[in-house]
Amino acid sequence: MKTAEKLTKIPPYLFMELRKKINKAKADGIDVISLAIGDPVEATPDSIIDELCATSRDPLNHRYPIDEEKGMLAFRREVAKWYETRYGVTLNPETEILGLIGSKEGCHHFIIARVNPEDIVLMTDPGYPAYRASILLGGGVPYNVPILPQNGYLPVFEDIPPDVAQKATAMFLNYPNNPTGACATMEFLNKLVEFARTYDIAVCYDNPYSEIVFAGQQHISFLMAKGAKDVGIELNSLSKPFNMCGWRLGMACGNPELIAAISKVKENTDSGIFNPIQFAGIKALQKEALFVDKMIDLYGKRRELALKTLKKIGIEFNPPKGTFYLWVPVPKGMTSLEFTNRLFDKTAVVVAAGTAYGQYGEGFVRISLTVPDARLKEAMQRIEKEFKQ
Ligand SMILES: Cc1ncc(COP(=O)(O)O)c(C=O)c1O
Repeated sequence: MKTAEKLTKIPPYLFMELRKKINKAKADGIDVISLAIGDPVEATPDSIIDELCATSRDPLNHRYPIDEEKGMLAFRREVAKWYETRYGVTLNPETEILGLIGSKEGCHHFIIARVNPEDIVLMTDPGYPAYRASILLGGGVPYNVPILPQNGYLPVFEDIPPDVAQKATAMFLNYPNNPTGACATMEFLNKLVEFARTYDIAVCYDNPYSEIVFAGQQHISFLMAKGAKDVGIELNSLSKPFNMCGWRLGMACGNPELIAAISKVKENTDSGIFNPIQFAGIKALQKEALFVDKMIDLYGKRRELALKTLKKIGIEFNPPKGTFYLWVPVPKGMTSLEFTNRLFDKTAVVVAAGTAYGQYGEGFVRISLTVPDARLKEAMQRIEKEFKQ
């Protein structure tokens, strides 16, 4: 059967490929440790699970969750409170918030809602691979904006050719950044609003790591920038702060016209989010802010361990201030892929090659700290043994 041509432009999804490789090695009896995927292993807090269990017993919640097309109003109200408390951002739950099946869904629907065929869509390189796929599936043309270490991994708007910016109708960004761990500043966000306003570019600021920042780094939302709501939306998610990756719950917040347009796409695509998941999400936002802090402590300790080991094998760099990733320069004389392959072949430790995130990812690998402490320790011991001269 012939399938749509646009699918041929989309490279295989990185993590699906990695999972296949890992599963094959495991089937061969190899003790593989994967540091490749950002998916917390610790359980979702009990209060959230209890809420899911209790609300899922109510038959009213077994029906289509279509009473309110933007997601349950109670959930959207709680998101509004969360944004007010955590970021000082005021949002109207009726018009400026939309419940999502994870922020990844939002990336896709944002493109369908905003982009016309052949429109340019700006995205960072390195960048989260799902952006490219969403742009291509939506008929847009991805344009890579390099983000480089010397600029704190932030785009330099002056370097984007004006004719490209003029043809662009949308842009994806995310800080705290996957894969580099870099964080944005308010100064940068203000510049982003100005750039978007100048060229009429709709910003999709994808912010699922907004809560995962280390001591000394401010929690920042794009919507804190003056005029942000005029030019875009922010996607956020319960996946990373509450260890709820598998639950699939997120939100789009900001520009009411974009929210209405994305809502229209959603109405015609799915029939909403299972109500008990939204009730559980309300519980998370109301009760579990301290859980995020506990996880950040844990990631901080793991980060120290990884940095110590990397230093021992001659790899030193400024650690990122956000996310649970380390964007690690590879040893001199090796490419990202060579380093990744040697790690896999000699130590059975899996990391993500930087080039999987774009050409400017060359020279780096991404390590995720979302593995149990004992496994990270074991991985670090293997790496030290292999690379220590
Ligand atoms: C930058 C970025 N956006 C979106 C997502 C997807 O998040 P969600 O689970 O909310 O769909 C991820 C997950 O790794 C991510 O790194």
